[in-house]
Amino acid sequence: MNESSFNPVTDTIVDELRDIVGPSYVVYGDADKLQPYSHDEIPDRHYAHMPDVLARPRTAEDIAAVMKLANRDRIAVTPRGAGSGLSGGAVPIHGGIVLLCDRMNEILEVDEANMMLVAEPGVVTAEINERLAGTGLFYAGYPMSLETCSLGGNVAENAGGGKAVKYGVTSRYVLGLEVVTPTGEIVQLGGKLIKDVTGYSLVPLMLGSEGTLGIFTKITLKLSPAPRSSVDLLALFKTAEDAIAAVPTIMTEGGIVPTAIEFIDRNAVKLACDYLNETLPYQDAGAMLLLTCDGPTTEQVEREYEAIGEQCLAAGGIEVYVADNATTTERIWSVRRNIAEAAALLGEHQANEDLVVPPAAIAELVLGLEAISRKHDVFMPAYGHAGDGNIHTRIIKRPETSIEDWQAALPGVLREVYTLTARLGGRISGEHGIGHKRKAHMGQFVSEAYLDLCRSLKKAWDPNGVLNPGKIFDL
Ligand code: LAC
Ligand code: ZN
Repeated sequence: MNESSFNPVTDTIVDELRDIVGPSYVVYGDADKLQPYSHDEIPDRHYAHMPDVLARPRTAEDIAAVMKLANRDRIAVTPRGAGSGLSGGAVPIHGGIVLLCDRMNEILEVDEANMMLVAEPGVVTAEINERLAGTGLFYAGYPMSLETCSLGGNVAENAGGGKAVKYGVTSRYVLGLEVVTPTGEIVQLGGKLIKDVTGYSLVPLMLGSEGTLGIFTKITLKLSPAPRSSVDLLALFKTAEDAIAAVPTIMTEGGIVPTAIEFIDRNAVKLACDYLNETLPYQDAGAMLLLTCDGPTTEQVEREYEAIGEQCLAAGGIEVYVADNATTTERIWSVRRNIAEAAALLGEHQANEDLVVPPAAIAELVLGLEAISRKHDVFMPAYGHAGDGNIHTRIIKRPETSIEDWQAALPGVLREVYTLTARLGGRISGEHGIGHKRKAHMGQFVSEAYLDLCRSLKKAWDPNGVLNPGKIFDL
């Protein structure tokens, strides 16, 4: 099977799509309207590709019918949520049909007795906790783009985000999935069960499958008791070295697992503050940690954040600010959440990276990145989820560097970044996925035997190779 030998979308197929999803939910032959679906949030448009047609299904049956048609005529189908991805997972690199899940955007059930919620994939993640307000329950997922990303994409990428230190990543909360398979069958995986060994555990296989093994049409989430108290600390350090060295010791020596330990270097905080016109007191700081403590009682949270604050000062912190009200908390987190968006405005000549290492290696990673940035004289703001070992950096062309010099330098810089990450026992994506952006580098981090297992899974589930082709690995 040739991976790229897909058939073009014909007028007849477009008519069939109109019959399936309704004529007003198909976009065809209008480049301006299709263009937004040719890319995700990777600034570099080399990774973009136009779809032939966009279809917006409303039901699992709609999607199943589209998949049957795609298999019959061998047409590529790329599922898409909010398009906030950073590895090209939702980019239709072989053209064909983009299946946009935005109409499937209902929270179907809040099941308080079971502490679960059932939602469609197009629900915007932040809406889940808005809906749960007043129930005493909450959904613990906190991807940085929670105001725009949607739940289906969170499942597809196994989104992590800012609070994974304590709460873990999306996979911890997905108990059940209704899935349309690549061949167009509708299957129920898992369900409203905390325990379930009734056959293979296919739900975890779906988490992080990047839209290559199925399209999620109903998602059952486990909810948790909402913390009654939450406090954020902003700890400033003279250097990135001081800040990052404090990260693992807060947990290992302090014996406390905070909800979040975010690292933000001076370049990253300045980008976001300038973008938001915000004034955080970072002027004297080379880096800062944003820490959250939450829990069932004010006393417990107070004990924890005081201990953490003392530890930060003992580790060389120059100042620790406490944010214990919603407005200040939101101001600080908004700066953190907007770093990626602010950096993206620096133009398309940049590579966004999503490195992850064992938590104790975080200092070596961050200091290694600083050294690479100095050596190659490239702008590399670093920020991210330091408490769980996941750091983002963007390798950004300086305005004075020519495009030719930049293009010549980038592969070498990336090679050094990846070699460092591999040496520390890390991998190239903690939460953004591989998509087609990082596919070529998989071999440096996983074995050929592992890739062969993945390929046989993909071939068994998707014999015609029509669902999100060209992602994660080549067949
Ligand atoms: C962040 C996103 C980009 O952490 O993952 O800002
Ligand atoms: Zn992140």
